[in-house]
Amino acid sequence: MSDHLTVVDHPLVQHKLTLMRDKGTSTAGFRQLLREITQLLAYEITREMPLTTRTIQTPMEEMEAPILAGKKMALVSILRAGNGMLDGVLELVPSARVGFVGLYRDEETLKPVQYYFKAPEGLKDRLVIAVDPMLATGNSSAAAIDLLKDAGATDIRFLCLLAAPEGVARMKEAHPDVPIVTASLDRELNEKGYIMPGLGDAGDRMFGTK
Ligand code: URA
Repeated sequence: MSDHLTVVDHPLVQHKLTLMRDKGTSTAGFRQLLREITQLLAYEITREMPLTTRTIQTPMEEMEAPILAGKKMALVSILRAGNGMLDGVLELVPSARVGFVGLYRDEETLKPVQYYFKAPEGLKDRLVIAVDPMLATGNSSAAAIDLLKDAGATDIRFLCLLAAPEGVARMKEAHPDVPIVTASLDRELNEKGYIMPGLGDAGDRMFGTK
């Protein structure tokens, strides 16, 4: 994957995203749509996974059939909203290992501080997909990618539902080698750091908090 930003404009993705943005959508509906849309985005992000072939016997004859070359995947959720995107990817790639990154924002320095980090072994040999529905300022996403690189990851992709131009620019500056796949590049961040038009607080909407 070479382009830094891919916006998936598939009609099903765009339709489901509209339902998710609608403030009338229930918590259960929001969670289900996030799982479905993530599955469609994961299809896009795994498009270039390397293939090899295996000799198999169909009922008709022997053939050399394509099969994944075996590069293992690590899926990393950026807490807490990233958790809502785990199932959608795991349904496509059930053998993926799963990691978690927890960051909070220090109110004085405004810098992201790590409070939890747990990653699968052998990150350097894996395709690492970091998931967080909202790429807003990009500060926590860039910090999460720093942690993954420190832990050895070299082939990382970032999967989100919505991206703000500010977050994309921040990620491009900090991690130009990490392609981003999203369902929409929204207009801007507001003064509180929310994506506009956005969908509100993704964590609150999927977990029913607030
Ligand atoms: N996080 C969210 O959940 N929503 C936004 O709009 C921005 C960051």
